Amino acid sequence: MGAEIEIEGRTYLNFSSNDYLGLAGDPRIADAAISAIQRYGIGSGSAHLIVGHTDEHQRLEQELAQWLGTERALLFSTGYMANMGIINALIEPKGHVFEDALNHASLLDGGLLSRGRMIRWPHRDIEALRQLMQGCDPSRSLIVTDGVFSMDGDTAPLKALAELARETQTLLMIDDAHGIGVLGAQGRGCVEQAGLTFHDVPIIMGTLGKAFGVFGAFVAGSDTLIDFLVQRARTYIYTTAPPPALAAAARAALRLVVEESWRRDHLMSLIKYFRHNATALGLALGASETPIQPLLCGDSRRALMISRQLAQQGIWVTPIRPPTVPEGSARLRISLSAAHQKEHIDQLLSALSQCLRVDESVQTDKPRQQE
Ligand SMILES: Cc1ncc(COP(=O)(O)O)c(C=O)c1O
Repeated sequence: MGAEIEIEGRTYLNFSSNDYLGLAGDPRIADAAISAIQRYGIGSGSAHLIVGHTDEHQRLEQELAQWLGTERALLFSTGYMANMGIINALIEPKGHVFEDALNHASLLDGGLLSRGRMIRWPHRDIEALRQLMQGCDPSRSLIVTDGVFSMDGDTAPLKALAELARETQTLLMIDDAHGIGVLGAQGRGCVEQAGLTFHDVPIIMGTLGKAFGVFGAFVAGSDTLIDFLVQRARTYIYTTAPPPALAAAARAALRLVVEESWRRDHLMSLIKYFRHNATALGLALGASETPIQPLLCGDSRRALMISRQLAQQGIWVTPIRPPTVPEGSARLRISLSAAHQKEHIDQLLSALSQCLRVDESVQTDKPRQQE
């Protein structure tokens, strides 16, 4: 995993991973995992609450909490499991889970499978959320949002959400899978970027498989929250703990996330460079200041066609189609990484402008062919 990937013997420039800081292939993280395997073996042997929780897991939890400034953190095997587990633990019968319409599937599944009722608010529309919340018992409710929306790259209006949560005394949870490590001067994610603290956003879910380049997830919050989840989050309790080597790798990754802030600076300058030049080319980019830069294509066939043309030029961008995104909004989800250099972005832009020319001629050809 890096700026380049090899698929069936051919090398491509990779614009499809979530390896935002370019850490997934870092040898220092691999070395940390190897030493931990030599010490612990590979398997954790059981769930955390039996004998699966090692000192590597414990230290990772402590270091994450310390870095984020929360009282505690709790590891989950994946972000999907964390979201399912947290929402199901917190929502009782007659409770309500309020979700942004574009929340990640794992949050929506958490809401759907909970014992309460899930209500989705129109994307980023706080006033609509306020209306929908009327008449619901705030002490049994949870507001949940993605920090960075995974297919659009835009961010949640976190300040306004925190204000509404405070006003209505409702719990607020953020899934910062794509923000943690990337956004904020220290990489602490959307909460840091919005100038908020963890008192404003009491439940923070972060993943370790994206900017951290490893695997797994965590929730950070108060002592009481974590104690409660240890007792109630079924996807934490009833599953084998991740291998200790993964925890050791994530600890090494955390050190790099903290120490190598140049990765964030470099990434941000690549994002600006890409957006500036793509806009000059007339590309239909979404409103995103994050490494996720969607190029909207409309129908799925067009997205597939452009993706294939890019592949012919050695550029790998996977097309994202319905039902992952709404009907008529198929897109190329271009993701940028600190592993990229400016020259890689130039190659992407030049390939895109070539595809666009072909695409325009295909589109103007169409009516003629139909005639
Ligand atoms: C916003 C968001 N939340 C949660 C997840 C799930 O995390 P994981 O891959 O660790 O299961 C993803 C993607 O994988 C995501 O994009």
